[in-house]
Amino acid sequence: MKTIIEPFRIKTTEPIKIISREERAEALDKAHLNVFLLDAEDCCIDLLTDSGTGAMSTAQWAAMMLGDESYAGSKSWKNFEKTVQSITNIKHILPTHQGRAAESILAHTLIKDGDIIPNNSHFDTTRANIEFEGGIAQNFLCAEALDTEKEAPFKGNMDVDKLHDCIKENGAEKIPFCMITVTNNTGGGQAVSMENIRLVKEVLLRYNIPLVLDCCRFAENSFFIHEREEGYSGKSLLQIAQEMFSYADAATMSCKKDGLANIGGFLICNNDKWAEQFKNLLIMKEGFPTYGGLAGRDLEAIAVGLMEALDYDYQIYRNATMQYVSKRLIALDIPIVRPSGGHAVFIDAAKFLPNIPALQYPGIGIVNALYREGGIRSVELGSVMFGSFDDNGNELSSPLELVRLAFPRRVYTQSHVDYLIEVIETVWKQRNQISGYSITYQSQYLRHFTCHFEEVS
Ligand SMILES: Cc1ncc(COP(=O)(O)O)c(C=O)c1O
Repeated sequence: MKTIIEPFRIKTTEPIKIISREERAEALDKAHLNVFLLDAEDCCIDLLTDSGTGAMSTAQWAAMMLGDESYAGSKSWKNFEKTVQSITNIKHILPTHQGRAAESILAHTLIKDGDIIPNNSHFDTTRANIEFEGGIAQNFLCAEALDTEKEAPFKGNMDVDKLHDCIKENGAEKIPFCMITVTNNTGGGQAVSMENIRLVKEVLLRYNIPLVLDCCRFAENSFFIHEREEGYSGKSLLQIAQEMFSYADAATMSCKKDGLANIGGFLICNNDKWAEQFKNLLIMKEGFPTYGGLAGRDLEAIAVGLMEALDYDYQIYRNATMQYVSKRLIALDIPIVRPSGGHAVFIDAAKFLPNIPALQYPGIGIVNALYREGGIRSVELGSVMFGSFDDNGNELSSPLELVRLAFPRRVYTQSHVDYLIEVIETVWKQRNQISGYSITYQSQYLRHFTCHFEEVS
């Protein structure tokens, strides 16, 4: 088979600056050893997130020029609504400025104190929005997902038995809705099978509990179903996405991922009463329901981007990037989550640094070493991001300690990726020099964004 090439050529370039090792060390100290607080221009390859960091296509830029900026009922809104409906077949479409705004409206409208919201794995903003309303966010990820080295096609699946037990123990009235996140970002960007979505839906139907998809990476998940699940190789990614949404009563979306846009999101549902309540909040918090915090040009870019994300050649290339990185890292014996995720490669920090305890945040050790060594910005998905506290204030660690290398869509080339692998290899060889960390400042919610660290000697 020939090399899988980028299915595009580059028309506009953006320079990247490579600062010296000393300057990087100084920048990281100034950022209190938290890469979220670095200046982006000091990061030579920025793999902090795949969210909103992608490159738009010529078709998207052209569509932006057609943006209708009318306050109400613009042509751009009509385009957006029609596109989202053609993929999801869901009745009510509410645009939001990004995914978490959709989550906040959903949570504020439907969650009462003490309610339980199951998910395969909640993303950090989803969890925060649920907990902010007094809800309890529970993860029921399938057991094989915890074995990071096991190659399995659908490690994002929900454990249906655990979900069922939760409903029987707590009663359906305590569960206003259940979520499934496709792909499962916090569990390693792993795919969820159609069969699993169907089985979850079957259980929920018995108890009349609605299913809400967190569908940020619906196109990447559709690609995995196409490649890995029996009966789907003959279907288009659009048909697969349509079937996925047919099991959902509602969905939250960040168009900064598979909308291939730099901003945007939506909240969609079939229930008229929900839609009415969502709309009231949307108007108060985001904007009129036909723009919801977005410019007309953003709605246009998203409408084009959503369909581009369902293009098979694009997904083949996207997945080839993850495969390339993961194969090279496996050949170097570097512990990573297998198989690689749809949008990212995850280093298993607990195995990379087995001598650093979870509550000394081995992931932060690797993240900071990658930055110091090569100006690579990555992110910890471990006990800093997902740790919690028990009723006595004792800190509890996360089940997995991961470092995510998230790839912006259509941004970096193979030589950037080769450089990345060289940097990771150097850090791997020098891993005995990496220390643990402690937190010297943290906020009440989403602490990873702003906390300060200190190295533990
Ligand atoms: C699975 C998942 N859900 C929700 C969100 C939140 O979306 P946004 O960043 O647009 O608020 C993200 C963002 O990374 C995500 O990955």
